[in-house]
Amino acid sequence: MKIISVVGARPNFMKIAPFIRAINNYNKTSSSTQNHITHILVHTGQHYDDRMSKQFFEDLHIPEVDYNLGVGSGSHAEQVGKTMIEFEKILRIEKPDWVVVVGDVNATLACSVTAKKENIKCCHIEAGLRSGDMSMPEEINRMVTDRLSDLLLTPDHISSENLRLEGVPEQRIRFVGNIMIDTLEANRHKASSISLKDIADRNALGNQCFPTELQDENYTLMTLHRPSNVDNQEVFSSLVHFLTQEVTHDMPLFWPIHPRAKKQLEIFDLWQEVESSKNLILLHPLDYNDMLRLNMGAKILLTDSGGLQEECTIIGTPCLTLRWNTERPITLQENGGVSVLVGNNIERIKAEYRKILNKPRTPFRPELWDGKAAERCLDAILYYNYF
Ligand code: UD1
Repeated sequence: MKIISVVGARPNFMKIAPFIRAINNYNKTSSSTQNHITHILVHTGQHYDDRMSKQFFEDLHIPEVDYNLGVGSGSHAEQVGKTMIEFEKILRIEKPDWVVVVGDVNATLACSVTAKKENIKCCHIEAGLRSGDMSMPEEINRMVTDRLSDLLLTPDHISSENLRLEGVPEQRIRFVGNIMIDTLEANRHKASSISLKDIADRNALGNQCFPTELQDENYTLMTLHRPSNVDNQEVFSSLVHFLTQEVTHDMPLFWPIHPRAKKQLEIFDLWQEVESSKNLILLHPLDYNDMLRLNMGAKILLTDSGGLQEECTIIGTPCLTLRWNTERPITLQENGGVSVLVGNNIERIKAEYRKILNKPRTPFRPELWDGKAAERCLDAILYYNYF
């Protein structure tokens, strides 16, 4: 069997790493050469900075890619269009049995469409997530990919139910659990040994003076990259004022900055304010283990990332999700998780921040978020014809 799996942007790397490991383990233990799986890894090149891409390959022991499509930055149509043109060439050379796509980035959409147009079976890992928000490019990517894919592997029952409600036949849906948690469990021990000061020193952005006392359970961690937060001047300015005038007065704030957020801070003339703020620790985008370590010790996480919401659920860090909706409702407080949706209204954010300031860490493990999802993903592909 020949499988091509696809990555494009940062959140894909932690999902593909355990899947490739599961293939390697299968090949090692499989008795006959007839059953051998040939695996080919394609990177669309949407994320290309070392800190957004290469570093993750090293940290997570992902093998070198077989093809890099070099798509780079651009509008959505440019990224999707270029990926389709280049990916089609590869499919015609390699003629795989399966294309495996993960998550909801532009690579996920572009490669699932191209695979189906070439009449190749497509498997979507992390299927069935729905925010109901069509202004999110990721929602469009999820819907199209799920509509086309032959095998839809879901992380939870809510996602499986979403697919059923859209009329997806039962034999295409498999509940396998959350593959990202495989990566979290594989790295947890290693991450716990990293010191906070080391993270600050190795990843410092600019020439700031960092607070000398950095202690677990006494800092906030924040990440922001969604257009709804960083592309709107009024929203982004009031968020930045809240950080520099309130949060950093309570405790140090670690902020690893996504390239999009950094660009917008400069455009909106906010860079000076964040750079000169005492207690605000500005960092480059972090590698997987540094981010996991910060999450493990943070008192509060402020984020608009979907993946971090899930990691907080397992680690238990109280999380304010700076969005009005989520495609991951299982992570919300009302469903047993730790995350609260606060949108981008500053008064609401402030009120919820005060509320969770003294909340204890409360880990929650949804069904099959057990570190073994990758094996179930591979089994679903291997036994596809038997269902
Ligand atoms: C993409 C994904 C999003 C994911 C996020 C995680 C889509 C539709 N969006 O959004 O789902 O949560 O990645 O990071 O696929 N840039 C760099 N260096 C890089 C990559 C990007 O400087 O290595 C710059 C680009 O030039 C652009 C900005 O960052 O200005 C945004 O990059 P882009 O890949 O378009 O989307 P993300 O916002 O990262």
